[in-house]
Amino acid sequence: MKLTRRWLVLGTLLSTAFVGLLVLLVGQFVDFQTPSVDLKPFVSTEPAGETSSLPLRKFEWQARTPHPLDLKYPYPYPFLINHPDKCESPGGAPFLLMLVMTRPQDVAVRQAIRETWGNETLVPGVIIRCLFVLGLPPPLFAKELHTLLEEEDREHGDLLQVGFLDTYHNLTLKVLMGLEWMAQYCPTAHYVLKVDADVFLNPSFLVWQVLQPNGPPRPDFITGYIYRNSGPLRNPAYKWYMPPEVYLPDKYPPYCAGPGYVLSGPLALRVLAVAQTLKVIYLEDVFVGLCLQQLGVKPTPSPPQVFQMFPLQYEHCAFHRLALVHKFQPQELLQIWPDFQRVNMTCPTA
Ligand SMILES: *[C@@H]1O[C@H](CO)[C@@H](O)[C@H](O)[C@H]1NC(C)=O
Ligand SMILES: *[C@@H]1O[C@H](CO)[C@@H](O)[C@H](O)[C@H]1NC(C)=O
Ligand SMILES: *[C@@H]1O[C@H](CO)[C@@H](O)[C@H](O)[C@H]1NC(C)=O
Repeated sequence: MKLTRRWLVLGTLLSTAFVGLLVLLVGQFVDFQTPSVDLKPFVSTEPAGETSSLPLRKFEWQARTPHPLDLKYPYPYPFLINHPDKCESPGGAPFLLMLVMTRPQDVAVRQAIRETWGNETLVPGVIIRCLFVLGLPPPLFAKELHTLLEEEDREHGDLLQVGFLDTYHNLTLKVLMGLEWMAQYCPTAHYVLKVDADVFLNPSFLVWQVLQPNGPPRPDFITGYIYRNSGPLRNPAYKWYMPPEVYLPDKYPPYCAGPGYVLSGPLALRVLAVAQTLKVIYLEDVFVGLCLQQLGVKPTPSPPQVFQMFPLQYEHCAFHRLALVHKFQPQELLQIWPDFQRVNMTCPTA
């Protein structure tokens, strides 16, 4: 009896210990999992701040594991879906090449853009070419999406798929590969527009008022909504977090905001050339600013309110006096477009 009780007590103790251990283990597991999910791109596995002698420092980067925000560029990413002859037309080189940044899964977004501002024949008398740039979907969805994308491309012939993983932190690769495509297949385009998919665009205003086909050529021209005197956000909680290991200075050069900026073809080629010599950072618009700084080119201010970075309620006349509004969902675009296209309205001239 006594013996049994002792065993019972021991058993209870042991099982308590076991449960305790389990709780500890699970706790640790959860502790470990949670931040690595949230902060995935930001957690550095390197020991902090090693100071080595200066002459050796420049070789350090070769030995260390790359920072999760480092981008592999230059690198021969292949064009997996391509239209080498997209820019060839009897009328000559395109006046405007639109490179629209979309993700592979954004099938409906691309369709809305085709039916609205992405329509290449919207501006009479001006050759416009519109290409959707995308990377690779996450491996889990690769098979389904591949079939879908091939079908979409067969119908519309306007996809440019490049062989890198399509993530927010790889956006600079998308822009640079778009420019590489331009350099290879469309080098005489007069202007190149880098544009995100979540915008309203007014191609007529952009062409006639901002780019002015009848004006003199402007080889150093780049415009958009210009950020000046901004600097890196050093708190990892921010979407645009920039660790000092990736970009050390505390200021960014002036740059045109990512949702939409337009530059001359010759400048696009020079930006691409100088990009081969710089450390690429994941903030695509800042990186183009760094290229411009290296080239000694300053963004040209556009008239105020022409590139709207903040949500703006649709109004027919107001939208005819601007080039771009950030933050438009595809349904909103499709909804306002018929009204926007009505040409017989008399708007006060500003
Ligand atoms: C593009 O606009 C033309 C008229 O300029 C129209 O005939 C054509 O259907 C439009 N394309 C799409 C995809 O909406
Ligand atoms: C960027 O793309 C490369 C090539 O596909 C991939 O290895 C890398 O993980 C991607 N980087 C990010 C931050 O998603
Ligand atoms: C302008 O459009 C309205 C309806 O939207 C129509 O009643 C009117 O006749 C049109 N005016 C001209 C000059 O086409």
